[in-house]
Amino acid sequence: MDPARLKSTQYAAIGLLRATRILPVVTVSSPAQGVAVARALQAGGVTAIEITLRTPAALDAIAAVRHDVAGIVVGAGTVIALPQIEAARSAGAAFLVTPGTPPALADALADCGLPVVPGAATPTELLALRERGFRVCKLFPASAVGGLPLVRALQGPLADMLLCPTGGIGEDDAPQYLAERNVACVGGSWMMRTEWLADERYDLVTEATARSLAAIARANS
Ligand code: 3PG
Repeated sequence: MDPARLKSTQYAAIGLLRATRILPVVTVSSPAQGVAVARALQAGGVTAIEITLRTPAALDAIAAVRHDVAGIVVGAGTVIALPQIEAARSAGAAFLVTPGTPPALADALADCGLPVVPGAATPTELLALRERGFRVCKLFPASAVGGLPLVRALQGPLADMLLCPTGGIGEDDAPQYLAERNVACVGGSWMMRTEWLADERYDLVTEATARSLAAIARANS
């Protein structure tokens, strides 16, 4: 592991999370759907998205978004096994996100040379990642493991760790999370309701994204 390289890729991860404010967690049934959703999210104002490696179409969707949607940063999410790191990189993923980060996965991620947002749910897990040199983590599943009170409680003992709380967050509470000093970004899928995607109502995805970003801007101005 090269600490200087990890420091620089963590810096890049923090930069892309801060820029987008909301990291949509996108699960796709086809590459074409991935491209359509990415365009809709981008039109709503986000600058990065995570495509989860939970469906057979995910890697091809990452490649398609990378190729067809200029100006959006596409990463791979739900990275839970070592071979997925290289698969995601080959598909063109610009960053990686995990829901949780056991030691072997943390070591491989620290070495991989891509910006990474490793998942953690407790102070102990966050500390283990901090020891390896990570400075930004996905707090998952955020609402289930403590929500805003947990985020606030972590500010004292883990003052130099930034979070991307994800899991159970919605339009109503996203602005409150982003008002916390240790929150770089919030993740979630609330702006992509299943029925909207089934009906190809991508206009509603754009509207919901823009509405959330406007609420965040108002709350933090
Ligand atoms: C994830 O994997 O990050 C979650 O599925 C996203 O959480 P949400 O769907 O509750 O927003």
